[in-house]
Amino acid sequence: MHFFRFLLCSLLTMLLAEYSQCIAIPCKDNCCSFVEGFPLRLKNLRSSYDEIRDYYETNDELEVALINKTVLENFKSPYGCHVFDEVLHFYLGTVLPTAVTEETKRFQTSIDNIGNIFQALKKDMIKCRRYFKCQKPFEIASIKKSYNDMKEKGLYKAMGELDLLFNYIEEYLASKRQKQ
Ligand SMILES: *[C@@H]1O[C@H](CO)[C@@H](O)[C@H](O)[C@H]1NC(C)=O
Repeated sequence: MHFFRFLLCSLLTMLLAEYSQCIAIPCKDNCCSFVEGFPLRLKNLRSSYDEIRDYYETNDELEVALINKTVLENFKSPYGCHVFDEVLHFYLGTVLPTAVTEETKRFQTSIDNIGNIFQALKKDMIKCRRYFKCQKPFEIASIKKSYNDMKEKGLYKAMGELDLLFNYIEEYLASKRQKQ
């Protein structure tokens, strides 16, 4: 269960630490308060996790990581908030609900507590997308929308930018060349 520890202790801290620049100044907005208030939530997450960690770690027999470096890299990408949202969604929807069984009923309170904090983090993250300058992963729909917004001028724009597209295709395919 190394992945659990990884998620709770390092990934969230890393992500939120990136934005905790207003440390000395009192917060003027909710997103600053979200970032600055995270250590308190983290403490709460860790103390709940301390109650259950041994059980899950002892029963974790797999060597391979689930929450690995790739997740952290994605958190730190320009669309990190979407990855954050999806990872929390996965824990809230799939992992945590199946974590409580007959055998682990005594963990219910701790797991509920982690779930509630995740739920709150998810909400705050959605509200703070702009504050975090979080971008959407690229979607062709956004190009189509801009094209349609340009009305009849869009055609000239799209055709006029073909040379740019050729360059991009060239660069992309060149990056795929197998090194001999
Ligand atoms: C991390 O895990 C994902 C999903 O299992 C996998 O696709 C990816 O290659 C892994 N990354 C590393 C660096 O091991």
